[in-house]
Amino acid sequence: MKNKILLYFLLLIAFAFGSKSCMNEENKSKKAENSTTAVKEVLSEKDVKSPLEKGKEIAQATQAALGKNLVQAIGESGTAGAIEFCNIEAIPITDSLANIHLAAVKRVSDKNRNPDNAANEAELAYINEAKNQLAANQSIKPQVKDQDGKWLAYFPILTNAMCLQCHGKSDQVSKEALAKIEAHYPNDKALGYGENELRGIWVIEMEK
Ligand code: HEC
Repeated sequence: MKNKILLYFLLLIAFAFGSKSCMNEENKSKKAENSTTAVKEVLSEKDVKSPLEKGKEIAQATQAALGKNLVQAIGESGTAGAIEFCNIEAIPITDSLANIHLAAVKRVSDKNRNPDNAANEAELAYINEAKNQLAANQSIKPQVKDQDGKWLAYFPILTNAMCLQCHGKSDQVSKEALAKIEAHYPNDKALGYGENELRGIWVIEMEK
């Protein structure tokens, strides 16, 4: 229990300092609230689920919350504006409730935009596997493993047409959006994608 509380505080601190400075506090907490609520809804169901099922639902709920924020941000401020305010940033989601066995949620990529989202070696191995499955026209299999006494699950994130205004080829990204991307992410690697490509993965860490 002590460990869990400690972990919670560490993650809370990481969240407070890890978020990009260009997002204002009000937006940050609003977004965290949206995503956390979505995840809580999944986890509050009392039925017993496998870590894979649970992880999948968390990834889907987070993706949906993030997608909603993204569409809203683009609608309010346009594509370039949405980048400027970093409204699309994924939030590390944590919860201290003892019956909610969630440690952390993150999005990583082999071609990351935000330097904080670079995939580590194990994540890169899964990304390569997933890319091979996609190239062979197979559906991408999620993965779950036991790591240091926790469940660690990976799920693919694929592109659709909407993503390409910020992750597509040079003729699909407006000059204005490109300028904002360059200004905020000087080491960006996340351009040049087409539809239905592997943009990255969800990494869901769950307490046992
Ligand atoms: C309005 C522009 C915009 C759109 C549209 C957009 N993204 Fe992004 N995306 C970004 C920005 C900016 C970041 C960096 C966020 C950060 O700082 O964490 C990012 C980061 C990511 C990451 C995290 C890894 C990384 O590169 O840092 C993934 C995965 C991702 N986007 C997938 C998608 C997918 C899939 C779609 C379409 C469903 C999409 N994005 C649509 C702007 C966009």
